[in-house]
Amino acid sequence: MMTKYKIAWLPGDGIGNDVMEAVKIVLDAIKLDAEFIHGDVGWEFWCSEGNPLPDRTVDLLRKTDCCLFGAITSKPKEEAEKELAPELKKKGYVYFSPIVRLRQEFSLAVNLRPCKAYKGNPLNYKDDIDLVVFRENTEDMYAGIEYHPVPERVLSTLKEHPKMQRFSHISPDDMAISVRLITRQATQRIIRAAFDYAGDKGYKSVTVVEKPNVLRETSGLVVREARKIAKEYPDIELWETNIDAMCMWLLKNPQDYGVLVTTNMFGDIVSDLCAQLVGGLGFGASANIGKDYALFEPTHGSAPKYAGQYKVNPLAMLITTRLMLDYLEENVKADLLESAIANVIAAGKARTYDMGGSSSTLEVAHTIANEIHTLERENG
Ligand code: IPM
Ligand code: MG
Repeated sequence: MMTKYKIAWLPGDGIGNDVMEAVKIVLDAIKLDAEFIHGDVGWEFWCSEGNPLPDRTVDLLRKTDCCLFGAITSKPKEEAEKELAPELKKKGYVYFSPIVRLRQEFSLAVNLRPCKAYKGNPLNYKDDIDLVVFRENTEDMYAGIEYHPVPERVLSTLKEHPKMQRFSHISPDDMAISVRLITRQATQRIIRAAFDYAGDKGYKSVTVVEKPNVLRETSGLVVREARKIAKEYPDIELWETNIDAMCMWLLKNPQDYGVLVTTNMFGDIVSDLCAQLVGGLGFGASANIGKDYALFEPTHGSAPKYAGQYKVNPLAMLITTRLMLDYLEENVKADLLESAIANVIAAGKARTYDMGGSSSTLEVAHTIANEIHTLERENG
């Protein structure tokens, strides 16, 4: 029988499996009409195939509406090389981050990370925090344009720059360069996404978080584009804050802010800070959205030491699932899941160890599933 959706199901490894099992329980309760198709990704496939993101998985994603992604282990270069199957060693395989690759491969330019202080969450830093980070996802220093040692042809071009004079005595072996490349197109896309979202959800401000006083060209471009685009949204205020000051303000007055928009690396950093304000890793949800595909993942890692123990908090993954329902425009189901999550947190009914409780990952999922049934009964 044809289902309404085909969803690529990529638990990855470590606790990725634990939290995806929790999602299954909740999606069954919510009766999403979807087929879930398993895809291989993660450490196991690096070790056995020299590729943590096999081509068959990329092909699978192309045939689905969107992807749910659990978590994967990644290790530094030398360690990764050590764990490769003996027959694959010294064949030139290099470990890469599947998630960064997928964001680029599928042009998932918008990374959306909501950080909301759910009522009754004992881990909230302050009440009434409701932040959403919009992080550009495909450019900046994470585009992977890097050199070490720096090739002579690159160096000779750079030498034309007057600021390079200070480095003229340094040998190419003693230098490493990562390029911060920002395009107007991607910048406009992320800023528009932030403003549209603020408009839809009723946020009164969008704060562009950059560093244009020092990074005059790259951050400068972002802020200039933000000012232009802000004019199209007269009901939403544009605030401009430097990334360093933003970190301070977020600790001082996090309630004052709504939507934040920034480039890839600053977004990576500031979204961890925001997640910690509302409970940390157990609450960090994220959506990677492109023009015709989207991938949903919690921001936490694979915590291998907890793998299979059903100990970790599934809420990050469940809030992530709510973002997927938003994307699919399953608004009734999205609201239902959101209310169930909020109610269970508020009632302190089931809490994993990080929240001071002793419930298992799956107990939290079952409690939320029951709450979904209760809400459905109440709403007729
Ligand atoms: C995140 C993570 C990733 C990133 C890592 C795992 C590559 O930190 O999603 O924030 O840097 O984007
Ligand atoms: Mg990060």
